[in-house]
Amino acid sequence: MQTGVIIVAAGSGERLGYGIPKAQVPLAGEPILAYALRGVIASGIADAICVAVPRHDEALRQVCAEVSQAAAADGGECPPILAVDGGASRADSVREALVTLQGVDAILVHDAARALTPPEVFQRVTTALAQGGQAVIPVREMTDTVKVVEHSDNAAIAPEVVHETPDRTRMRVVQTPQGFAREALTRAHAAAELFDDQQAAAVTDDAMLVESMSVPVYAVPGSDLSLKITTETDLVLAEALLQKYGS
Ligand code: CTP
Ligand code: MG
Repeated sequence: MQTGVIIVAAGSGERLGYGIPKAQVPLAGEPILAYALRGVIASGIADAICVAVPRHDEALRQVCAEVSQAAAADGGECPPILAVDGGASRADSVREALVTLQGVDAILVHDAARALTPPEVFQRVTTALAQGGQAVIPVREMTDTVKVVEHSDNAAIAPEVVHETPDRTRMRVVQTPQGFAREALTRAHAAAELFDDQQAAAVTDDAMLVESMSVPVYAVPGSDLSLKITTETDLVLAEALLQKYGS
């Protein structure tokens, strides 16, 4: 099975608030994208990597080149890394990268923002695809109780009121890399390209697109290290995790 990995790194990082694309933001002195790329390379599962970067971003293209050179200098196997301009939404960025990975059987889509994802997670997803899964996602069990809320009928008390408490034991938090048979992912994204703005805004991962085509999505264990760096607090947590566990 030939496997391609898409790293989406074209977001602007509004919530992190550094005024530069999130993938450029330093984590213990190195750009977030460098960690994400090294995790993919260390897993050994990638035959090709395509990184979606913000349009005209030279700094992240440079990160791709440097990580590639460093891997080669270490004497390890480094798959070719191609950088392409991403799009306005995450799904657009995935589509821009997808067209460059024609020759592979399987594709893993990974958020650069999940910079500390351990190599084992990439391997677990790839193994499940090799066993015949058409869609595979890494998940974690929930530790918090979850409530469904609705608008409160008394805003003077609180803006929201609890509607119900779903059974937490059946719920999972979803991470990346999400793996797919290339044909299923391509078909799902071609359909999503026709979505109106409201439908497009509701797309938060790739698996939900293939779910809507009735493709079974299998779940394998993810990792607590795969947190998505979204806010300043997440960056602090990621630096602490790096210090304790390295990468
Ligand atoms: N992403 C992308 N192209 C976009 C939007 C997002 O490639 N047009 C990527 C981000 O770079 C990130 C992943 O999708 O690796 C998840 O997105 P998110 O965490 O929301 O990152 P940002 O969009 O950069 O952050 P924010 O929403 O705070 O601006
Ligand atoms: Mg975003």
